[in-house]
Amino acid sequence: MRVIEAIKPGSASKSLRLVEAPDPTPGPGQLLVRPAAIGLNFIDIYRRSGLYKMSFPHVPGSEGAGEVVAAGEGSTEASGLRVGSPVAWASSVSGSYGELVVIAADQALPVPEGLDIAVAAALPLQGMTADYLVRSVFPVGPEHTVAFYAAAGGVGLLAGQMIRTAGGRLLAVVGNAAKASLLMDDGVPPADIVTLGAMRNVTEELPKAIRACTQELGADAVFDSIGRDTFAASLRSLRRRGTLVLFGASSGPVAPFDPQYLNAHGSLFLTRPSLGDYTASRDELLERSGRVFAAAAEGRLSVRVGARFPLAEAAAAQAALESRATTGKVLIVP
Ligand SMILES: NC(=O)c1ccc[n+]([C@@H]2O[C@H](COP(=O)([O-])OP(=O)(O)OC[C@H]3O[C@@H](n4cnc5c(N)ncnc54)[C@H](OP(=O)(O)O)[C@@H]3O)[C@@H](O)[C@H]2O)c1
Repeated sequence: MRVIEAIKPGSASKSLRLVEAPDPTPGPGQLLVRPAAIGLNFIDIYRRSGLYKMSFPHVPGSEGAGEVVAAGEGSTEASGLRVGSPVAWASSVSGSYGELVVIAADQALPVPEGLDIAVAAALPLQGMTADYLVRSVFPVGPEHTVAFYAAAGGVGLLAGQMIRTAGGRLLAVVGNAAKASLLMDDGVPPADIVTLGAMRNVTEELPKAIRACTQELGADAVFDSIGRDTFAASLRSLRRRGTLVLFGASSGPVAPFDPQYLNAHGSLFLTRPSLGDYTASRDELLERSGRVFAAAAEGRLSVRVGARFPLAEAAAAQAALESRATTGKVLIVP
């Protein structure tokens, strides 16, 4: 089979190579899957670039969907799935950029009837992330005004729909005017859109823009996935006792921070959550994936696949995602 290997930390073009590898055999508690599509996520970039510690070479990718082609001992009992079943996954380990993928049966997600397999590949990681952020980390309700960054991105488009479904007021923060227009054409546009691209000093201007949308009070919660470039602005954009949910580092990791700031600026809350901690048991994993899959299958959650790349062009796919050029989900189709 053909797989992509990340051979060393660094840029996508210098690190990612298409190689031939022997077809894997599933061990006990494992399923062998032929992916119909593989999901790209920012964590693939953190791992390839060296921001998150990884051994090299490794096969990148933590997400996809396809058909079970072989089942290791005990895997059907652990997953409820057998050869021929459609399956999706969003595992905490790498290894998905290939023509065949071994997944742990206890991470396997059943794909409901009526859900397109490409949508099933696009949803698990970003969909469950959106779900835990706005339902569990800061449960958004009709009384809340919340700012969400990268609102036209993979997690952002899904979270925005969930925030509006919950009755929350969404301030969508995006990089440029084209992404703002995409949100305006989305059927149910956000309450306000803030565009970062025109700002010379994000730390000064972003809080002003968010406060202007909230009668100068500040947002109840800010969902910040950008990290280094926006962290200070996010803290300044909160109302008294507001919550900063820092859930990514697309621009780089945040510098060390003095918790005294939280006290001095209105008893603020800060959390840095991970999907793994919000899907720690199989029950919670199935509950979250089941909810997002059902919403997509029933047409209550729309999933935008913004770009598809062949396996051999995985480096171009990652470069597009990290250059802020994409909207919605990026898929690799082997
Ligand atoms: N904590 C968790 O459990 C968890 C789970 C999944 C994802 N995440 C995080 O969620 C974020 C979104 O992930 P995603 O896969 O859905 O990606 P994405 O939002 O589709 O793409 C990232 C977006 O971030 C924005 N961005 C702003 N500054 C950037 C910079 N300097 N470099 C690159 N991008 C920048 C860009 O949107 P604009 O141009 O509109 O600004 C870009 O399109 C990532 O930070 C990821 O690490 C966290």
